[in-house]
Amino acid sequence: MAIYRIILAFCFLFAGSALCFGAADEGESLFKNKCGSCHSINKSKSKAKSEKDWRSTVMRMVGHGADLSRQEIDLVVSYLSQNYPAK
Ligand code: HEC
Repeated sequence: MAIYRIILAFCFLFAGSALCFGAADEGESLFKNKCGSCHSINKSKSKAKSEKDWRSTVMRMVGHGADLSRQEIDLVVSYLSQNYPAK
């Protein structure tokens, strides 16, 4: 959803806003709750991918049956690409 991209872009520029931590926390808790049911979350933590690659991984997980709305996909992809970026 476009609004989340705007919020995250805003965060990036003005780190420290409460809104920003809200979005980051939500991405983290979605990741912990939704990405550890079929395999360990360590499977993801050991990877380093660009945003584009994380998005295609997450979309593949949705294909496997991961239960994420479009908005949740954006939050998880942002969280993963910020915390586990391509090296
Ligand atoms: C419904 C079960 C299921 C859920 C939920 C799930 N996965 Fe997966 N995941 C799989 C399966 C099956 C594989 C192995 C096949 C493959 O890679 O597509 C896999 C493989 C992976 C891999 C290794 C392959 C690669 O491309 O690096 C990563 C990383 C990964 N998952 C991340 C995630 C993330 C992030 C989430 C949460 C958005 C998630 N998974 C949720 C089933 C799931």
